[in-house]
Amino acid sequence: MNKTILAANWKMYLNEDTSIDFVKKMNSNRESFSKSEVILFPSHTCISQVQDNIDIENIKLGMQDCDINTKGAYTGAVSIHSLSGIDFCIVGHSERRLLYNESDESVKNKLETVINSNVGAILCVGETKEQKNDNNTFNVIDAQLSILPKDTINGLTIAYEPVWSIGSGDLPSNEYIEDVLSYIKNKLKSLYSDEIVEKINLLYGGSVDKDSVNRLLEVELIDGFLIGSASADFESFKAIAEKLS
Ligand code: PGA
Repeated sequence: MNKTILAANWKMYLNEDTSIDFVKKMNSNRESFSKSEVILFPSHTCISQVQDNIDIENIKLGMQDCDINTKGAYTGAVSIHSLSGIDFCIVGHSERRLLYNESDESVKNKLETVINSNVGAILCVGETKEQKNDNNTFNVIDAQLSILPKDTINGLTIAYEPVWSIGSGDLPSNEYIEDVLSYIKNKLKSLYSDEIVEKINLLYGGSVDKDSVNRLLEVELIDGFLIGSASADFESFKAIAEKLS
């Protein structure tokens, strides 16, 4: 069985000092993280320091976002090519979609940029509370997945993150998550060969913490978690990692 993925989206919670402090604590508690596949997503400005200070083999690193363009006159933008040793990039996180007005079209272009750069893309999809209440969850997921290229794709992970669950402590039932992940899986099967679909990991994100992780682990289709606030606090991230078998 593959190890459970723990993708730590530190958002803008940690600065350079606290990011270094975090990975040093990981180094001293390496055994706690041996049962999972950890991917850290620090702020862009802290990635190099995290890279330099982490001393555990197989810890992967990612960018929380990147620009559609890879080079040129784009003041303030960050290219996926700006750093070496990046394994993953998050694409289409709901905070990017909602707070920075990223459209499906721009998520599509960003996904292309990431995939063409040979970096693993974690594509986030999920419905808002209103969309859920209007019974539109599957329509929304369908539209968000319609940007996927047909026939073939490399290095894709899908993170199902109901927007209403992010940062709220409000979690969907396991049945609800299972239904949405099955829907996503079937959609992927309609696009790609079994061999490709087999390689696409499915993550759940939204209020994952040391208390909720136990019951979430019972959802068979979950390959791992995209964790926000609970991943930026060392003790709580460690407690989550220790729950994995
Ligand atoms: P949360 O965030 O764990 O703080 O709910 C998850 C995410 O935004 O990826």
